[in-house]
Amino acid sequence: MPSIREQAPAQRRKARITRSFDLASDSYDEANGDFFNPVGDRLVDLAGLRPGDRVLDLGCGRGAVLFAALAAVGPDGYVAGVDLSPAMVHRTAHQAAGARLRNVSVRVDDAEDLGFPDQSFEAVLSSLALMITPDPDAALAQAHRVLVPGGRFGLTVFGPDVQPEWRQAARTLRDYAEDGPLGLNSLTDAPETALAKAGFTGIRTVEEVVTVRYADLDGWWSSVRSDGHRGLLESIPSDRLDEAREAAYDVIRPLAAGGSLTRRTAVRYVTARRP
Ligand SMILES: C[S@@+](CC[C@H](N)C(=O)[O-])C[C@H]1O[C@@H](n2cnc3c(N)ncnc32)[C@H](O)[C@@H]1O
Repeated sequence: MPSIREQAPAQRRKARITRSFDLASDSYDEANGDFFNPVGDRLVDLAGLRPGDRVLDLGCGRGAVLFAALAAVGPDGYVAGVDLSPAMVHRTAHQAAGARLRNVSVRVDDAEDLGFPDQSFEAVLSSLALMITPDPDAALAQAHRVLVPGGRFGLTVFGPDVQPEWRQAARTLRDYAEDGPLGLNSLTDAPETALAKAGFTGIRTVEEVVTVRYADLDGWWSSVRSDGHRGLLESIPSDRLDEAREAAYDVIRPLAAGGSLTRRTAVRYVTARRP
């Protein structure tokens, strides 16, 4: 197995995604569930799932879409989740087994090279995942391939900044880190164009702002340690970590009022159909 440095750029990026989300997986839901879960619920609403549908969730993480989709398709439906991160898959599969859900499977797989046969699903969904994969066009082509004709597709990406302080705080952390950020790919700028190019039709976008309240600055820090920035944080030398955190706190402190901190994030929900 080649070291991360010896791998091709796309493989190297996937290895970084895997490592970051493996590390973040144990606290991902507790620290970030108030954001990812409502976004997953809303995507499922907009996708118009029907009882009995077979659904695939690309980059399922801790199941923000997967569990909402299971509720929508009911006992006669079926939901499969895939993720690059074995730790995410393990924890989500464990949660499903704990809830005695039998019409669900979760496995390690690459959205860009899915191991499912053609035309296996009535719906393919993906929340805040395809915006970080190295080749989003490959993932969209796979989504199109595994959908039945007439099948529905839905994804979310971040919209434009509502409060630029959050991006600035992340940039501040980068200045202390040895690894760069994972960063967002071209899908974030023009998801509709990418979907049209992959052969989807009936493309519709809804943009909404999602509000999250952190109890204090440390609440935000916990969320950063529990999302895709985790790899970047791990690459900050330990003797500079306190300084990095304080510098980031200085950037977002103006957003704190009455002790709590409110974060507003624009999310784009894009839905489409395989003709
Ligand atoms: C920000 S998380 C979102 C997780 C979940 N969809 C949610 O809304 O909470 C992004 C997830 O996408 C996964 N991911 C990124 N690229 C992927 C790919 N090519 N194939 C499968 N999973 C991928 C990551 O491992 C991570 O778990």
